[in-house]
Amino acid sequence: MSWSRRGQWPKYLGVPRPIIEPFRIKVVEPIRVTTASERHELLEHAGYNLFGLRADDVIIDLLTDSGTGAMSAEQWAAMMRGDESYAGARSFFRFEKAARDLTGMPFVVPTHQGRAAERILCNVVPMKGRVVASNGLFDTTRANIEAAGATGLDIPDRAALEQGSPLCGGIDLDKLAELLSSRASEVAFVVMTVTNNALGGQAVPLANLRAASELCRKAGVMVVLDACRFAENAWAIRRDEPTQRRRDLPAIAREMFDLADAFTMSAKKDAIVNIGGLLGVRDPDLAERIRNDLVRTEGFPTYGGLAGRDLEAVAQGLHEVLDEAYLEYRFAASAYLARALEAAGWPVVKPVAAHAVYVDAGAALGHLAPDDLPGQSLACALYLAGGVRACEIGNLMFGSGERRQLVRLALPRRVYTQSHVDWVVAVAEDVARVREKLPAMRIVSTPAVLRHFTARLAPAMPFPDFPG
Ligand code: F0G
Repeated sequence: MSWSRRGQWPKYLGVPRPIIEPFRIKVVEPIRVTTASERHELLEHAGYNLFGLRADDVIIDLLTDSGTGAMSAEQWAAMMRGDESYAGARSFFRFEKAARDLTGMPFVVPTHQGRAAERILCNVVPMKGRVVASNGLFDTTRANIEAAGATGLDIPDRAALEQGSPLCGGIDLDKLAELLSSRASEVAFVVMTVTNNALGGQAVPLANLRAASELCRKAGVMVVLDACRFAENAWAIRRDEPTQRRRDLPAIAREMFDLADAFTMSAKKDAIVNIGGLLGVRDPDLAERIRNDLVRTEGFPTYGGLAGRDLEAVAQGLHEVLDEAYLEYRFAASAYLARALEAAGWPVVKPVAAHAVYVDAGAALGHLAPDDLPGQSLACALYLAGGVRACEIGNLMFGSGERRQLVRLALPRRVYTQSHVDWVVAVAEDVARVREKLPAMRIVSTPAVLRHFTARLAPAMPFPDFPG
């Protein structure tokens, strides 16, 4: 067995060999293997909300790919070189150089994570009563936009999605053109999220980024790249966009940033660190306003919300993530999981993202209506059957509505091996055997905001028994 299975071989080797994890493991963390009866009790205690579990009670944690990656020996070594000076720390200049070399943005500051960069941007751009259009806003981005008095407007490229094109995470260019021709002055900025996490992790084609950027430049509207998975997007562009096959990954990544006027980035994804974020802009006036907000809320501009050692880890991570062998393995890992889940009878969202596999629980559990929360029922079953923690993205997260009822199995970077993924597959196979017996989930209590984090639930009928 290999990540590649038969017929798919890594291009960089030039010979038919399996794709392997391109790293060795030097530090390990034990996994506590729980029993089915323990898990039953733990889940009940957590109110059937997987966010309420202790991580120690989880066998394979696929809740998120954010901040959960394993740092490399070079990143740990860089952390030892961290300069913790309040102002002008050496580590800041390394961070700044790495960020500028990658993005070409003249002004870049660190923030404690992605949402802090979003908040600051929304604080320094006039927002009240305006609109922010996007291919797909992430929840925190939307929340920051709305807290600043603007409205978030998702206009994903539905036609590309329906055609099932390999790169279908872009923005609807007709709708964007219409918006910009009729109401350009109302548009605060346009966010291009790479990859499109809100939709299903689809990558955005370079052609779509170019066209969106051109429309915005003509209309005098700023383009903001939500760049947290920029490397995965760049790799998908090179693999699937015929004109891009021969280009270097850093050149593709650089063009993605060149097409934007600003970027926000959670470093917890493609900078492969456990905490950190970045905010970059070209405009010097905006940079000045950002510096003022940053110093008031996050920290002095040469450390933002981070320690010097964190800046070192980000600088190193931004460099490592564009490694060909790493990205080839990363895509092979999610494709492997997706193929195996499909073979077990679970419908998965296509094209398969790098950072996660999204299972369409609504389609798989036909006996449950959307408000029976099929995604939550499946997520609970995966935990009960084998301690796998995934995340519902459906009516529990967003409230009642017409949408797909998904379960996201996110893959932390460089953390799990193929046999861990095989465990997930075996668990999903066990759940598939009893899928028509998975119960509806009822909400027992719910907080005022972001209810999926702390709501308590109960199954309408007991879950079937699982072995082990
Ligand atoms: N933008 C996107 C596209 C994201 O996926 C996230 C985080 C953020 C912004 C915010 O970054 O967490 O550093 O403040 N996504 C995580 C996830 C939480 O699980 O998908 P942050």
